[in-house]
Amino acid sequence: MPDQPQASGLTIPEGGFWPAPEIPQPNIYPMEWRVETEKLAAIYQKSKELTWNPAHLPWDSLRPDEFTPAQRLGMMYWFSVLANFDASGPAVFARATIRAFETHEEDPVRKCFFSITRDEMNHEECCQRAIAALWPGGPLSWTPDTDLERAAHNNIGWLYHNGGRYWAGYSRAVGKYSLPVLFTSFMMGEMAASTLFRGMASGARHPIFSEMFKKIGRDESRHLQICMTILDNEWPGLTDEVRSTITRQLRAGFIFLSMILWEPPDGFWDLPPYFLANHRVLMDQARDAGLGVLSYTEQADNWRQAIAKIRVIVQRWGIEFPAIPELDIDGVDVSDDIDPENIIPVF
Ligand SMILES: [Fe+2]
Ligand SMILES: [Fe+2]
Repeated sequence: MPDQPQASGLTIPEGGFWPAPEIPQPNIYPMEWRVETEKLAAIYQKSKELTWNPAHLPWDSLRPDEFTPAQRLGMMYWFSVLANFDASGPAVFARATIRAFETHEEDPVRKCFFSITRDEMNHEECCQRAIAALWPGGPLSWTPDTDLERAAHNNIGWLYHNGGRYWAGYSRAVGKYSLPVLFTSFMMGEMAASTLFRGMASGARHPIFSEMFKKIGRDESRHLQICMTILDNEWPGLTDEVRSTITRQLRAGFIFLSMILWEPPDGFWDLPPYFLANHRVLMDQARDAGLGVLSYTEQADNWRQAIAKIRVIVQRWGIEFPAIPELDIDGVDVSDDIDPENIIPVF
């Protein structure tokens, strides 16, 4: 018998409605907005209130002619190094956001990832604007003229070659690793970032830089809080296998992030032998210009303190910490076990 229209106007098939086909997963459908962690929902709401606009920093006060060409180059170089990290943030977290939709993470997790994506876009814009003001055409679309300029241009080219390798590895890792593994790496990056910007905000002599670093540092602390809240949910169910993956990832995080926090150790960075010597000369120029770049020893101390905090956090969950002899930190030796293609931390 054909379906009969009802008095209500509805058409109800005989034998009841047909169930919609099951949606193959992972998929962003079916839609739902589950809230399990109120704290994350609150952080997301707060993040909207604390939003800021890099375009509104006092850019007029940044007068390139107040610096020597070498200082301007040094600062451009530093922002180009930072961009290797902070400008990968939007793409990294956009992909993590999509992943969180596909795996049906609770709604506040997806929203928090989105807010980190938004913040990282602002951090990227800071790199973009600072570079445009100090060195038009930077990081790479300009023709160097002096040896110092050639050294800077060449080093930046090598840095971005490594950034490209990181992206290729990350793109594979994001689908492969579970949330706790990804998030321990993210947590390490956020701890590193909040430590770096806190240090630089207090060291910067130009008001635009201290304001910029203060604002970025505040965002990074919020990202850290997001990571910690997610990890608090995830850690109780860890298996030993995941624990040992995390130990290796912590060492990988140290290797990757040291480029901006300190100096690049062996193990991931594919760089020419002269890179580090020239990197130091350029960093000295940026430091000299008042950007707030800490000294080599201050950077090491700062990084050691950040790592000590990470160590306390992960050891609470029975995760062994990797040895970091570069900073006199002892732990499990996993140095032979680091796959440079699997580096996942992000700022
Ligand atoms: Fe950032
Ligand atoms: Fe961040």
